[in-house]
Order: sequence, then structure tokens, then C-alpha cells
Amino acid sequence: MLSAAEIERLAQEFESKSPQEIIGWAVETFWPEVALSSSFQTQSMPLLHMAARIKRGLPVFFLDTGYHFWETLMFREQIASEWQINVIDLYRDTRWDVFARQHTRSLPAEDPNLCCYLHKVQPMQKALKDLKAWITGIRRDQTSVRAHAKILELQDDGLLKINPLLNWTKADVERYMEEYNLPSHPLLEKGYRSIGCAPCTIAIGVNDDDRAGRWVGRGKTECGLHTEMFQHKDIAEVKKEFQLAVCRSERG
Ligand code: ADX
Repeated sequence: MLSAAEIERLAQEFESKSPQEIIGWAVETFWPEVALSSSFQTQSMPLLHMAARIKRGLPVFFLDTGYHFWETLMFREQIASEWQINVIDLYRDTRWDVFARQHTRSLPAEDPNLCCYLHKVQPMQKALKDLKAWITGIRRDQTSVRAHAKILELQDDGLLKINPLLNWTKADVERYMEEYNLPSHPLLEKGYRSIGCAPCTIAIGVNDDDRAGRWVGRGKTECGLHTEMFQHKDIAEVKKEFQLAVCRSERG
């Protein structure tokens, strides 16, 4: 078990290491209690490609929210099969089924935070419960929240979050994609440069920021996987919100 001080020191040291070295360390240190998480979009390709070469069989968690573009699901199938990736699909907890089915169309628009919590945050928490570490593909240049992240982050629940690409820029991703001739998500050519769930993602113009098409007009830039919501801090609040939503729906 690594101490908080040791994690802090390694996080500093890793600032000058390559993503491959960081993934290698993660696998060596935590296997088999480590998994990677991927949203299977164009910019996810380098991390998946590296991981597939470093550790065959490394579990790759994919949150199948039920709201993905058809193209994302097809792309996920293609990559998983061609690169022989051990993809594990994660789903919403069945106890929310009745509520979620009744609100399938309205939930993303009416309450995107609750929607992300039910379809992404909670299933990921459950999947990671028995692991020691998880690897993500976040980069500092993506959002203001991610700009303050560290390569190693010890969560309140003792899980270590590892962000090997944190230092990479969009240009680094493009360079790697070119070097290895990696495939792009089919919606990229239609102006979708950052892709989440279909109801909360739109195509953008060439001069827009890459993430400008995510949760447009909702004042939201993060799904919650990479904020405090995931670290058990705001969950009581989210649950309260959920109860209110259920009450509202029962009242009609
Ligand atoms: S999001 O919060 O805006 O949707 P983004 O697509 O940038 O996230 O992905 C950042 C990281 O969050 C990914 O590298 C991955 O680790 C995790 N992630 C996001 N969406 C998913 C998903 N659907 N399945 C698994 N991991 C995901």
C-alpha cells in the first residue's frame, strides 16, 4: 500500500515520464486490481492502443449509458474486436429502471447531472469498488477542472486514479494517431470532436473549442466522473435531487 507522501512524490516524478511508462508502472504495481476506462471516441484511441500493447486482458470499462450514438457503439465493437480488448460494459443499476424508463427522453434535458450520475458515476463506482487503481484518459488541456488534476490522485475511498495522458495536448494525440495510423470515430468527420451521449452532444464548427458541443447551454462541462461527485462528497445531494425528481414524476 502506497502512502499519501509516496503517491505525491511519484505523481511529481511522472510529470516527466511517458504515458507508456506510467501505464507500465500501474500494471506492474496493481495487476490484477487495476482497470482502464474509455469512452471510445477518437481521442481515446492512443490510450487504448498503448494499453492493448502493454497488458493483454487489461479490463477496459465502457459505460453503456443507453444514450450513446449508434456510431459510438459500432466503433467500440470494431476496436474491441480488432485490438482484442477486454471491454467490460457497465450499465445503470437496475433499481432505477422504472424511473429511468419513464423519463428516458426527458431526463438528459431536465436533469443532466442526475442522468450522468445514474448512467456514469454510480455504475463506475460500483465497478471500481474491489479494485486498487483505475486509469483514465483525461488531459489538462480539456477543461478547467482537469487543468488542476494530478497524474496520481488518491481518492477518499482509497482508490488510486491514474491519468497517464494528463500532460498531453491535442497535438500529442494527433501525432500519436498519425504515427500508428489509428482509426477515428465515424462522427468526427461530421463535426463531432468530443463525443458523449447523443442527447447532450452536438456537432461544432472548425473554430470552436473541441468540447464546445458537450452539454450546450447547460452550464455543465463535466459528467461527474472527474469531479468531487465521484469522491463521495456530493452524493447525498445527488440522492436528495433524485428523490425530488421521483416525487415530481409521481405527482405527474
Ligand atoms: S466526459 O466526462 O466529458 O464524458 P470524456 O469523454 O472527456 O469524459 O472522457 C474522459 C475520461 O472519462 C475517459 O478517458 C474515461 O476515462 C472516462 N469516461 C468518460 N466517458 C466514459 C464512458 N462512457 N465509459 C468509460 N469511461 C468513460
